[in-house]
Amino acid sequence: MGKVSTGLTMSLDGFIAGPNDGPERPLGEGGERLFEWYSSGDTEYRLPGTNMVFKVSPQSAQLLREAHIRIGAFVTGRRTFEITNGWGGNPPLGVPTFVVSHTVPQEWVYEGSPFTFVTDGVESAVEQAKEVAGEKDVAVGAASIVQQCIRAGLLDEIHIDLVPILLGAGIRLFEHLGSTPIELESTEVMEGDGVTHLTYRVLKEP
Ligand SMILES: NC(=O)c1ccc[n+]([C@@H]2O[C@H](COP(=O)([O-])OP(=O)(O)OC[C@H]3O[C@@H](n4cnc5c(N)ncnc54)[C@H](OP(=O)(O)O)[C@@H]3O)[C@@H](O)[C@H]2O)c1
Repeated sequence: MGKVSTGLTMSLDGFIAGPNDGPERPLGEGGERLFEWYSSGDTEYRLPGTNMVFKVSPQSAQLLREAHIRIGAFVTGRRTFEITNGWGGNPPLGVPTFVVSHTVPQEWVYEGSPFTFVTDGVESAVEQAKEVAGEKDVAVGAASIVQQCIRAGLLDEIHIDLVPILLGAGIRLFEHLGSTPIELESTEVMEGDGVTHLTYRVLKEP
């Protein structure tokens, strides 16, 4: 069985998007700065399942390649899905994508759709994603989904691409987690161009 892991870009003060995000401005005001590291290097890396080509440092390219090859399914939230217009029908990595929502947008339900809309919660979405992923990892994206996964004890690994900026406002990744400390073990720190890649194992209660 693979891991359940995040892979998000975050500002040093903890935001994964600036304020007032929406389809016109997917990462909010000032938030586009977060993704600059995807074009700040000299090594091309094509995001599987899409036409997107990043230009990153060689070490970032290797890290992305190794992480992406392990991912067998993706769980995200309805806001991210809407803001990206369902990635134009091509979700990142080209893997089956489970969108947690209270409602099902029927226009996205068709034979061969990469999207499954899950209306009975994050645990169910992760369970369905794990079944599809098999031995591979399940990637969970978006703040609300990561927070619910942490609270439910579903997350095995936190991977953060840390960007040296203080955004000051926006969507925080680590909040609504209650007041009980959650212990992490640092397993990797790698410096890229304009980004520091941090990986932590979530230590679970025995
Ligand atoms: N920096 C990065 O690497 C990165 C990566 C991904 C996304 N982002 C950004 O993150 C932001 C979106 O994150 P977010 O946390 O605001 O939103 P989100 O997690 O994408 O979506 C939240 C929505 O998902 C649905 N949902 C969540 N939990 C649910 C549950 N248990 N049951 C039923 N429905 C549930 C609800 O939508 P409904 O009630 O409408 O169904 C909720 O409003 C965007 O700005 C996006 O661009 C950043």
